[in-house]
Amino acid sequence: MIAFSRRVAQWQRAEGRHTLPWQNTHDPYRIWLSEIMLQQTQVATVIPYYERFLAQFPTVADLAVADEEAVMALWAGLGYYTRARNLHACARRIMSDWGGRFPPTAAEIETLPGIGRSTAAAIAAFAYGERSPILDGNVKRVFARHFGIEGDPSKRAVEQRMWAIAQAEVPPEGPEAADEMRRYTQGLMDLGATLCTRGDPDCGQCPVRDTCVALREARQHELPTPRVRKAVPERHTRMLVIEKAGEVLLQRRPSPGIWGGLWSLPEFDDGDALAACRVLGVAPAETVRLPTFSHTFTHFRLHVEPWHVQAGPVALKDGAGNPPQIWMPTAEVEGAALPAPVKKLLQGLFRRGGLL
Ligand code: ADE
Repeated sequence: MIAFSRRVAQWQRAEGRHTLPWQNTHDPYRIWLSEIMLQQTQVATVIPYYERFLAQFPTVADLAVADEEAVMALWAGLGYYTRARNLHACARRIMSDWGGRFPPTAAEIETLPGIGRSTAAAIAAFAYGERSPILDGNVKRVFARHFGIEGDPSKRAVEQRMWAIAQAEVPPEGPEAADEMRRYTQGLMDLGATLCTRGDPDCGQCPVRDTCVALREARQHELPTPRVRKAVPERHTRMLVIEKAGEVLLQRRPSPGIWGGLWSLPEFDDGDALAACRVLGVAPAETVRLPTFSHTFTHFRLHVEPWHVQAGPVALKDGAGNPPQIWMPTAEVEGAALPAPVKKLLQGLFRRGGLL
C-alpha cells in the first residue's frame, strides 16, 4: 500500500486548491499572515482582508512600524482581535530579535506570540518545506476517521495520540521531501475542507478511502467523537446609537477585552437609555428601542438591546477615565474599524434611513 502522505500529496497535486492568494509563494511573512487569518475564519472571508492587509503592509518591517490603530482597522470585521494584536507584536519581535528575518524552524516560530504548534508547523512546512506535522481542527477530523481514533480530540490524551500519528505520517526524508511536505500539508487541509467535511463526507472521491477505518465501519458520522458541550454563559448589554446631524457617536473599546481597540457604540448595563445619555452628556430629543440581536463569542453569548437616539444638545464628558470618543459621519461607517455585528446594525439603520 502506498504511504498515506504520498496518496494525500498526489491527490493535492491533481485535485487540491492551487490558486489561493497565499499559495505559490515561499515567503514566510505572507504564509504566516494567511495562517493567522485562517485560524478562525473561512477562506472566502479571509481573501479580501488578506489582500488589503498585504497591500498596506507588504513586508514584516512595514507591519512592525505600523500604528496599532491601522492594524486594527484592517482587521475589523474578521473577529478574534487578539490575533491582530499578536500579529503586530510578532512583527516587532521579528525585527528586534531576529533581525527582520522570520525564524527558520517550526520550533523557533512557535516561540512567537500567539503562534501554536500547528500554526508554526504549517508556516515552516509551506515556507521551508520542513517536515513538521500540522494538527488543526480539520486534520483532527481526517485523522479521527481515517485512523479510527475514538474520543474528543480537544481532550489532551486524544490530542497527544493524534500528534504522535501526525508525526509518524509525515513524508519520508529524501530529495523531494520539501515539495512533498508542502503538498501533503496543503492536501490535509484541502481534504478536510472539501471532501472529509463534517456533515457530508464525499468518501467516493477520497484518496485514502482504501485504508479509512471510519469508511470501512460506516462510522463517518460517529467520528470524530463529538465534544460534550457545556452550556455557554449568556451576557446582556445595551448599546446607544446616538445620532446628531448625520454623525454617530463612537467609543474606543478598552484593550484587552472583547473587540479591544475597535471603535464601537457606547454601552450601558442598567437603567434606561435616557439616563445613559445623560451620563455621556447627551440630551436626547428622541429614543427608540431597536430589535435585540445576539453574537456568539468563544466563551459566551452576548445579547444586545440597541437604542436609537436623536441627540438634542450635547456636552460630551470627555477626558479623565472616559474612553476616547468620536463623532463619525454615518457615510464612513461602511469602511470603519467596527466589530462586525455593530457595523451590521448601523448599516441596517443608516441604509434604511437613506444615509449610507
Ligand atoms: N486553513 C489554514 N491554512 C490554510 C491554507 N493554507 N489553505 C487553505 N485553508 C487553510
